[in-house]
Amino acid sequence: MADISVDSGRAPRERMEVRRVPFSYEQRSTKERVGHWNQGSPEFSHIVNSGSLAMPYLEPYLIRTMRAARDKITDPQLQKELDFYCAQESTHFRQHKKFNDTLSEAGYVAVREIEARVDRDYKKLGEKKSLKFNLAYAEGFESMALAIGEMLIEDREYLFGNSDPAVASLILWHFVEEIEHKNVTFDVFKHLHASYFWRMLGLVYATGHIFWRMGQGYRDLLREDGLWSNFKSRWRMLKLLGRIMKNVLPKWLRIWRPSYHPSQVPDPTWGLDWAALFDASPEGAANLDTTRLHEPQPVALT
Ligand SMILES: [Fe+2]
Ligand SMILES: [Fe+2]
Repeated sequence: MADISVDSGRAPRERMEVRRVPFSYEQRSTKERVGHWNQGSPEFSHIVNSGSLAMPYLEPYLIRTMRAARDKITDPQLQKELDFYCAQESTHFRQHKKFNDTLSEAGYVAVREIEARVDRDYKKLGEKKSLKFNLAYAEGFESMALAIGEMLIEDREYLFGNSDPAVASLILWHFVEEIEHKNVTFDVFKHLHASYFWRMLGLVYATGHIFWRMGQGYRDLLREDGLWSNFKSRWRMLKLLGRIMKNVLPKWLRIWRPSYHPSQVPDPTWGLDWAALFDASPEGAANLDTTRLHEPQPVALT
């Protein structure tokens, strides 16, 4: 485990840490038990599964983009932050891959096509688009991820309550670290380009792209479970998406302010408490008690 204390003068003091969190996923008896890790909400389970399936393609693309920019950066502190960003993203997609493998091993045949679609997209973006565009995409994605991370943490009891502790812990860990590195792509983009138009282009493109692909992914997974044509499931999905949009939209809209900087977004206390829990007990941080998510605490050992 390594950590960096960043005091760059550009933003308030922040801390980023590369953590090896010991997640382990229980063997489940049926395909649905694996896919519906939140049994109370197969719909939210598959929204998250669809996002998770994109990570081993999206995050390596972000890393490639940032590494391509590294030599153009004249600020050594920003280069150091960029390296930590890449190290954090690298642990993220490796952990997601382990979880994603449980979905394909459980028998979800849609996994292959969902992965192939995003793999093609990110290869194409990397090959065909300019570094400026890809940096704008990376910043757009990260600003959106910060808004989503805040929303997930604020609404954690509704979204993750009583779900599989390993999967809930994986997702919440990922977003705690997304919040930790919230400034890096913004500062890199600003350092090299400082264009409001391109920043907005990246935000709109990245948001539209990832929502489109995630939508296709959860639809395919729900279809495979026979739930896409189920009226009750569709109604639950509509209500869930309405709730998510209502909570995320104001956070997403603030990114449009010309004076926006991610450091203006205060770190949620729960995320800071999670980091302290990890320092005390990595196993505990990998197994949050989803019946008591108001504060980060591990499943009690019996
Ligand atoms: Fe990440
Ligand atoms: Fe990130």
